[in-house]
Amino acid sequence: MIKNVSSENVQNHLSTHENTGLEPSRRFCVAPMMDWTTPHYRYLARLLSQHTLLYTEMVTTGALIHGDTERFLRHDPAEYPLALQLGGSDAGELAHCARLAEQFGFSEVNLNVGCPSDRVQNNMIGACLMGHPDKVAEAVRAMIEATRLPVTVKHRIGINGRESWEDLCEFVEKVAAAGCRTFIVHARIAILEGLSPKENRDVPPLKYAWVYRLKQKYPHLEIIINGGIKTFEECNEHLKHTDGVMLGREAYHNPWLLAGVDSEFFGAKPPAKTRHSALRAMYPFIQSELERGVFLGHMSRHFLGLFHGMPGGRQFRRYISENAHKPGAGLEVIQVALEKVPES
Ligand SMILES: Cc1cc2nc3c(=O)[nH]c(=O)nc-3n(C[C@H](O)[C@H](O)[C@H](O)COP(=O)(O)O)c2cc1C
Repeated sequence: MIKNVSSENVQNHLSTHENTGLEPSRRFCVAPMMDWTTPHYRYLARLLSQHTLLYTEMVTTGALIHGDTERFLRHDPAEYPLALQLGGSDAGELAHCARLAEQFGFSEVNLNVGCPSDRVQNNMIGACLMGHPDKVAEAVRAMIEATRLPVTVKHRIGINGRESWEDLCEFVEKVAAAGCRTFIVHARIAILEGLSPKENRDVPPLKYAWVYRLKQKYPHLEIIINGGIKTFEECNEHLKHTDGVMLGREAYHNPWLLAGVDSEFFGAKPPAKTRHSALRAMYPFIQSELERGVFLGHMSRHFLGLFHGMPGGRQFRRYISENAHKPGAGLEVIQVALEKVPES
C-alpha cells in the first residue's frame, strides 16, 4: 500500500521550498553519500558554492513509502540545486517516489545503480541492478512518466560477471532508450561478493577511459564522471572528455575545496571569503536546528574537515570531537573551536 502524504503537508512544504524548475548544471557535483551528505553537510557545502549540484544520501523507496516521508525528504531551500537519490527497483514505487521528489521541490531525481552493499542487494537495490538493464529501463521509464524532473542514473562501469564493454553499452543503451539522458558513471566495477562497500570504492581499478569512450560513443547523452577525483586539475582534465565531474570523499573530507568551484567552473564570484566567515554564516542554521532538538555532534561532525591542512585545524577538530557530544552542548562549542584557528 502506498501511503499518501497529506496534500496539506505538501502544500506547506511547497510554500517554503521553491525550485527554479531549470535543469541544473552538472558540471560539478558532490556525490550522494550515506551518513555524510546529510542536510547539515549540504548546508555548509552550499555556503561554499552556489553552483555545485548537491545530492542527498540514498533514500530507499521502502523508507519513503512506509516510513516517515517528511523526515526523509526534509531539506532547506538554501540547498538548491539538490538532487534526491532513490534506491529501489520496483517501477511503480520508484514512480511514486519520483512524484514525491517533485512535490517536495527537489531539482532532480537520481536512481542508485552503483551501491554494492549486501543489505541493498537482497532488496534489488544498487549495483546488482546493472545485471538487470531491462528492469532499470522499466523503472526509469515509469519515473520519467511520473515527474517533470530530470531523471538520472548513477551506476558503475560493470559488476563482476558483467564487466565487458558490450555489457556496459547494453546497459546504457537500454536505459537511454527508456528516456534517461544523464548517466553518472563511477569509473570502476563493483564486486558483489567478497568486498565490503568501502573496498568496492578503492579496490577495483579506475578506468576513466571507459567513461570517456561512453561520451564518444553516445555524444547526445550527458556523461558525468565519478571516482577518485581530488583536484581541480584532475577535474579540468576529465572535463575535456565528459560533461561533468562528481566528487565524493574529497568534497567531504576537504569541504573548502568547494569554495573554489564557482570561480573555477562557472566563472562566478565565490560566495564565501574565508573558512571562518562560512562557518559563522552557519550559526543561525545551527541554532535553529539545536532548538529543534538536533544534537550539536550530529551536525558538527560534518564540519570537522573545514580547516583540513590549516594551522590550528587539528585543534579545531579535537575541540569539537571532545565537546560536541556532551549533554547540552551548544553553539559556544563551535565558537570556541573557531578561536583555535588563526583568522588571517
Ligand atoms: C560514506 C559513503 C557513503 C556513500 N553512499 C552512497 C550512496 O548513498 N549512494 C551512492 O550512489 N553512492 C554512495 N557512495 C559512493 C559515492 O557516491 C561515490 O560514487 C564514491 O565514493 C566514489 O567517488 P569518490 O572517489 O569521489 O569518493 C558513498 C560513498 C561513501 C564514501
